[in-house]
Amino acid sequence: MSKLKVGVLGATGMVGQRFITILADHPWFEPVEVAASPRSAGKSYREAVEGRWSQSDVEIPANVADLTVRKVTDIDKIVENVDFVCSALDMDKEEIRNLEDAYALKETAVVSNNSAHRWTPDVPMIIPEINPDHADIIPAQRRRLGTSRGFVSVKPNCSIQPYVPAFQALWDFGPTRASVCTYQALSGAGKTPETYPEMADNVIPFIGGEEEKSMDEPLKIWGRIENGAIVKADTPEISAQCVRVPVTDGHLAATSVSFEKKPPRDEVIARWNSFQWSKKAEGLPSSPTPFVVYREEDDRPQTRLDRDFGNGMGVTIGRLRDDNVFDYKFIALSHNTVRGAAGGAILMAELLKAQGYLDS
Ligand SMILES: NC(=O)c1ccc[n+]([C@@H]2O[C@H](COP(=O)([O-])OP(=O)(O)OC[C@H]3O[C@@H](n4cnc5c(N)ncnc54)[C@H](OP(=O)(O)O)[C@@H]3O)[C@@H](O)[C@H]2O)c1
Repeated sequence: MSKLKVGVLGATGMVGQRFITILADHPWFEPVEVAASPRSAGKSYREAVEGRWSQSDVEIPANVADLTVRKVTDIDKIVENVDFVCSALDMDKEEIRNLEDAYALKETAVVSNNSAHRWTPDVPMIIPEINPDHADIIPAQRRRLGTSRGFVSVKPNCSIQPYVPAFQALWDFGPTRASVCTYQALSGAGKTPETYPEMADNVIPFIGGEEEKSMDEPLKIWGRIENGAIVKADTPEISAQCVRVPVTDGHLAATSVSFEKKPPRDEVIARWNSFQWSKKAEGLPSSPTPFVVYREEDDRPQTRLDRDFGNGMGVTIGRLRDDNVFDYKFIALSHNTVRGAAGGAILMAELLKAQGYLDS
């Protein structure tokens, strides 16, 4: 099988670098175009990321290092060479929306990590193990755009990835309301300890826009398609507080939840450990097996020890306890730049390819 050719928009950034390292030896995809701002354009990829390569455990992949970085606005040149693009830009939302639409209108599929299109009603926002059927909205989006191949798809915010799978596994019991407090890593702000010195010995109790995303985006994931739009679910109601903590990678969520019918503790843990995901997401190259694991130790999950579980694509849960306000409380963790960003987007691209939406 020949590999699909991929362009990475925002390839020089924190998430873009993750895209590059995951795509460099991917069995289905191959990175052939890298694009960023005019500051990086014209340089080799190696020169453009010099001094800010943040993937400390991995070298710049040889098959990407010598590619010349283009401007993201060089759309005609980029679409000529690629089957689809992955988008990880840090720009004004309106600019991102326009740019992603421009690629789609040039008959190129866009798999985006950005939030700009998450609330466009016919843009699917997918966690492949949970709502792969939302890809069924793509024909309606193509009709709106007047394209035969181009469309935009998005992955949800990194902060929701620890607790949405935990609730999904217990969906039969009817989760009604929840409270989450997320402890979010520096890389979620595109930063490292060196580039974010004010985080040393500190916690910052504000991440712009994050609490709204953490409360609302799960409801689109659990929503339904009606008349060419994804209509969000009404429950569970979620209250969220999001704080930045001085760890490099990994978002941890202290979560409390109530149900229509409280499940027994053993059943909760059994459901997590045998997470039943949609058949459509089975066998994809980046699917972690298992997706979710429950750890019995009192002091797990820990960000540093557990974030790489399942190559950074898995979710680790622990400390399930009765709660005196909600039914239960627990701690969940996932890797923000892998499952929560580039890895989650590539898994979505794998799902879309398996469903025929990325065919050349
Ligand atoms: N980090 C995470 O965990 C995470 C998780 C989920 C979602 N996100 C989202 O992913 C996006 C990227 O995040 P990041 O952390 O990777 O940001 P980042 O490290 O700041 O990288 C931003 C990228 O966007 C490019 N860019 C900036 N301004 C541009 C412009 N005017 N024109 C064209 N390209 C421009 C940069 O190119 P230059 O290098 O040339 O400046 C760089 O490639 C953001 O929207 C963020 O909210 C991040």
